[in-house]
Amino acid sequence: MNLIKKILTAQVAVLALLTVSGQVFAADALQLQDDDIVERIKPVAQVCIAGEECKGVGAVAVAAAGPAMTGAEVVTKYCGACHTSGVLGAPKIGDSADWKKRAAEQGGLDGILAKAISGINAMPPKGTCASCSDDELRGAIKQMSGL
Ligand code: HEC
Repeated sequence: MNLIKKILTAQVAVLALLTVSGQVFAADALQLQDDDIVERIKPVAQVCIAGEECKGVGAVAVAAAGPAMTGAEVVTKYCGACHTSGVLGAPKIGDSADWKKRAAEQGGLDGILAKAISGINAMPPKGTCASCSDDELRGAIKQMSGL
């Protein structure tokens, strides 16, 4: 009887030891993970203060979005589908009179850029190029309009 008690006590002691060391290991791993995560998100997690240069963040944004397309590339991939032949009344590529008239109505290139971003009538938002930046859309409009 006594022997059994002793064995049981010993087992409990070993178990307790394992649990304690297990927790120590877990805490170590957690610490490592935290450091790892901090290291990995550093490029995007940097705090940028208004008015000060924000190093690296621009590069990360460009990397995430891929290199910018030229106006011609955007037109070929997205805008040409409608603007080449003037589908649904789209101003045709190179029809500078139509583009000029529209730009005058909307207050210039920035005005029609805003319409291209939001969409206008049968023209879908961003001309179906959801991933296009404002600059890429601006380039495409310049390419099509000659403005
Ligand atoms: C699904 C067809 C379609 C595609 C694709 C398309 N457009 Fe258009 N777009 C139109 C139509 C239609 C209009 C004329 C809308 C109206 O005035 O009723 C238009 C008009 C415009 C205008 C003039 C807006 C204004 O204020 O008069 C701009 C700028 C423009 N598109 C830019 C683009 C750009 C840039 C792309 C490619 C990224 C693009 N469009 C792709 C159909 C399209």
